[in-house]
Amino acid sequence: MTGFREESELDRKTFFALPGADQLAPGDMMPIDLPGGRCIAVYNVEGTLYATDDRCSHGNASLADGDLEGFRIICPFHEGAFDIRDGSPAGYPCTVPVKSYAVVSQDGVTGLFIAEDEHDQD
Ligand code: FES
Repeated sequence: MTGFREESELDRKTFFALPGADQLAPGDMMPIDLPGGRCIAVYNVEGTLYATDDRCSHGNASLADGDLEGFRIICPFHEGAFDIRDGSPAGYPCTVPVKSYAVVSQDGVTGLFIAEDEHDQD
């Protein structure tokens, strides 16, 4: 039964392409709007891409407008921070994680998977 449950969870995830993410230079980041209204911030740290929800969990700020310091994204509004590897809070006043995503390549297209029940939540 465990195997069936895991397979069902995978089936309910949808792949979204991240256009332009491959052109990001190390140290750069960009917001990418997905169908359905979710906006993703994509970061390039030393050639590896990371992704989180773009909206800060503390307020209505775009994290892609912040400052990237190593694996920390500093929010432009109140200078709270998150670890882009897992979305965990990494600086006051941020105490609630932001959703993070694994950036993958599927058939040569860079993107990420979002579960159906995670997508249209905002
Ligand atoms: S809105 Fe991001 S730290 Fe306040």
